[in-house]
Amino acid sequence: MELYDVMHTTFAARQFTSDPVPDALLHRIIDHARFAPSGGNRQGWRVIVVRDPATKGALADLSAPAAKRYAAQQQAGESPWNTIDRSGVTADVIARTPAPARLTESLRHAPVVLVVCVDLRVVASTDQALSRVGVISGASIYPFAWNILLAARHEGLAGTITTLAVAEEPKLQALLGLPPHVAVAAVMPVGRPAQPLTKLKRKPVAEIAMHERWGGPPLTS
Ligand SMILES: Cc1cc2nc3c(=O)[nH]c(=O)nc-3n(C[C@H](O)[C@H](O)[C@H](O)COP(=O)(O)O)c2cc1C
Repeated sequence: MELYDVMHTTFAARQFTSDPVPDALLHRIIDHARFAPSGGNRQGWRVIVVRDPATKGALADLSAPAAKRYAAQQQAGESPWNTIDRSGVTADVIARTPAPARLTESLRHAPVVLVVCVDLRVVASTDQALSRVGVISGASIYPFAWNILLAARHEGLAGTITTLAVAEEPKLQALLGLPPHVAVAAVMPVGRPAQPLTKLKRKPVAEIAMHERWGGPPLTS
């Protein structure tokens, strides 16, 4: 596929056919994805290829608590899991809110789940002393995760970055035998998509790019 076509059509796939995803194909995808950048080219990424139904089921189950909170906040009109606005949703409401199947079941039923991990010993987290939530560390791992999905698209596969299970990271570490310095960045179901792509909805450039400073004139063509 042409690069811009891949960029415009790599969607979040959550339902898959039962077609297998052979190791050779995954190897090819990761062989291309590994050319992603990382801070200082330290390449702290590791990928765990999960096919065992019990482990996939456990990954789905570990996504459920965060999915309940996500859904409860969404129903209350909040931006789920954000660190800026205080949530008005109580623990009781979260406990009563079912975990939407859409947010958990792709992990149980995908032919393969890729758990993208990062060795934090080699990540330069230059925002670590700020009082806000860290964002810089992600820049050393998500280009790699996204490259996997771009390459998968190129190969006729699809998947999704999911992060809900990471709210239960100690249990994830126990499940997968991860050492304490290894964080989970994404739990990605991958397979041949069951549904065709619908057009991606994204904001136009003029809404997201501006000249010189925040609130400056929009960038136009
Ligand atoms: C950082 C990040 C976390 C995400 N977490 C989840 C998740 O836990 N579960 C899920 O189903 N989708 C998750 N997504 C997928 C987004 O919901 C999806 O990319 C977005 O809705 C756009 O979908 P589209 O590309 O099909 O338009 C995540 C995406 C990103 C980038």
